[in-house]
Amino acid sequence: APATLYGLQVSQEPFGLVVCRRRGGRVLLNTTVAPLFFTDQFLQISTSLPSHFISGLGEHLTPLFLDTAWTRVTLWNRDMAPAPHVNLYGSHPFYLVMEDDGSAHGVFLLNSNAMDVLLQPSPALTWRTTGGILDFYIFLGPDPKSVVRQYLDVVGFPFMPPYWGLGFHLCRWGYSSTDITRQVVANMTAARFPLDVQWNDLDYADAKRDFTFNKKSFKDYPEMVRDFHSRGLRYIMIVDAGISSSGPPGTYKPYDEGLKRGVFIRNATGQPLIGKVWPGPTAFPDFTNPETHEWWHDMVKDFHEQVPFDGMWLDMNEPSNFVEGSQDGCPNNNLEHPPYVPGVFGGRLQAGTICASSQQYLSSHYNLHSLALLRVRGKRPFIISRSTFAGHGRYAGHWTGDVGSDWQQLYYSIPEVLLFNLFGVPLVGADICGFLGDTDEELCVRWTQLGAFYPFMRNHNDHAARSPFAFSPPAQAAMRNALRLRYSLLPFLYTLFHRAHSAGQTVARPLFLEFPTDPNTWAVDRQLLWGGGLLVTPVLEAGQTKVSGYFPAGTWYSLTGDSTIHSKGQWILLPAPLDTINVHVRAGHILPLQEPAFSTAQSRGKGMALVVALTLDGFARGELAPGGPGTSDAVLSLLLRASAHLDGVLLEAVTVLGVTSPPRRVLANGATVSDFSYRSDTQVLRVPVSLPMWEQFVISWS
Ligand code: NOJ
Repeated sequence: APATLYGLQVSQEPFGLVVCRRRGGRVLLNTTVAPLFFTDQFLQISTSLPSHFISGLGEHLTPLFLDTAWTRVTLWNRDMAPAPHVNLYGSHPFYLVMEDDGSAHGVFLLNSNAMDVLLQPSPALTWRTTGGILDFYIFLGPDPKSVVRQYLDVVGFPFMPPYWGLGFHLCRWGYSSTDITRQVVANMTAARFPLDVQWNDLDYADAKRDFTFNKKSFKDYPEMVRDFHSRGLRYIMIVDAGISSSGPPGTYKPYDEGLKRGVFIRNATGQPLIGKVWPGPTAFPDFTNPETHEWWHDMVKDFHEQVPFDGMWLDMNEPSNFVEGSQDGCPNNNLEHPPYVPGVFGGRLQAGTICASSQQYLSSHYNLHSLALLRVRGKRPFIISRSTFAGHGRYAGHWTGDVGSDWQQLYYSIPEVLLFNLFGVPLVGADICGFLGDTDEELCVRWTQLGAFYPFMRNHNDHAARSPFAFSPPAQAAMRNALRLRYSLLPFLYTLFHRAHSAGQTVARPLFLEFPTDPNTWAVDRQLLWGGGLLVTPVLEAGQTKVSGYFPAGTWYSLTGDSTIHSKGQWILLPAPLDTINVHVRAGHILPLQEPAFSTAQSRGKGMALVVALTLDGFARGELAPGGPGTSDAVLSLLLRASAHLDGVLLEAVTVLGVTSPPRRVLANGATVSDFSYRSDTQVLRVPVSLPMWEQFVISWS
């Protein structure tokens, strides 16, 4: 490259590379600090770090910034209820470091083998992987947003989800028939909860086998899905990675065809490796084999012809296995027992999954495990997967697995969601109210309030738990408010997804990305931003009616318009009664809103509104990606250009925050608006209008 942000030195003795910033000379990477090991099953390389502020290296239950006091971070995809210090469902060997002056850099090791990353207090970092090569990418930023974008330049920008996918999703393990599933939807309607997507867990399947449905309890399954469609709802069902292998030949097409087409992962003797998952004995598709894609596509298509589902939920694809390795154990060889075993939960690579030495089209499972079941492509519009690897966000979203119904997990969901945004998987959320164990009412209310700001918003839980309409009337009212708040913000959320998809930005954003030169923001992970303009400060503890949040220097308006914070960069204690979540708009931003309804199908025809948050010198700007078929490239500058996709949509309200002197006259496209209102205590100007959104308009006041 003709002009670089970095300088590079290669040292012979001791051997290593030193990468520094050309400006200022800060050393970002120095691998001479410890010897390099490069052997068949053991590769180790160390570097100094320029600061302790290191984030990334998912998937784990961690704060946003990691602990460098001798921490071992293990990457090896694993079915595991989220707990601290253990390897979870995905592998993202990418880290971001904040440097002292607010610059940032990132490092990605493109390697899918089981590995440990050791964080040391000097500060330093050691990569220790059990195979592959050392294929490093270093991102110079220099600001943290650019680091994320540069990383996504390598692994891919996120896919664009459909608008309905940003609505509310409801699921439950234990909706055991179509009658019950229909009743759930009826209860949601009766309780006036917005709902876009109804889901089913394994209950729908015949003997828990993929691509089948129970002809008794789900006998009218296709009709149920069609009925949902006729009410403007969408439908998603679970699909597990394991394919049932125990039926007599000729009784289960996915296995019969799969055998014929050679799509399954093989054991040492070349036969399909048989493990055990929900349906009993199962074989595991080898997604590194192109034929498997064809077979999978055919199975999905066959099923879709019977049941017109709208998206897929991929579970157990680490792959998860209830027996260690296989029903017949695993061979005794150096892939099963490498000279160095990273700190995987269970102590062996085969724990909770299939044998490391099983054979796949591209290589051994040892090399492919963490990405084996990722590459499920196709024409499916909305996919949520439990297992992930670097680059996943190009194809699908993620939910954070079997989180417990407790306050600690509520907190951890924020750093998880923020980290997955750094990993390029913005469509992410935790199971609202918690998955394992019954939730309690207060927790479920607070979780729904926070969940309204997960980019992917789904309430899903285990058999023992309750759905939203099962709580007391005040709790339901609070949850309904949270849902209506989200629905009103969907045009803004959709626009952020468009930005992620087209420009490699984040949707749910940690504060440090927006305010890198304010070190107080770096470790903030009990709050989150949507884009650059909306700050969410949830209550994460039981029995609290106040919450403390960090407000970076500047003006912040409460979204409701009733209070304003002029912050010097400080912690502020906010009132937070149980029915409220604190949401603030940053001065300088315009947010597009739409009147909420019971589904996006309904809300998208409703009137729109703008919230204009002025800076002290009277400036604000915003964007709107209007959505609709074929619009994914049309982001508009509000008030400047029109779009056919807004045909028929009226702008009905404009709220201007920070109007310092009382207006005497307000004009909309030159016509007097007589019923505007202004409050001098809050400095909020409200202008009711009825203006076509598809044409340019001008609103002025004096
Ligand atoms: C494990 C998944 O993480 C969970 O969400 C699901 O309910 C169960 N499998 C049953 O399918």
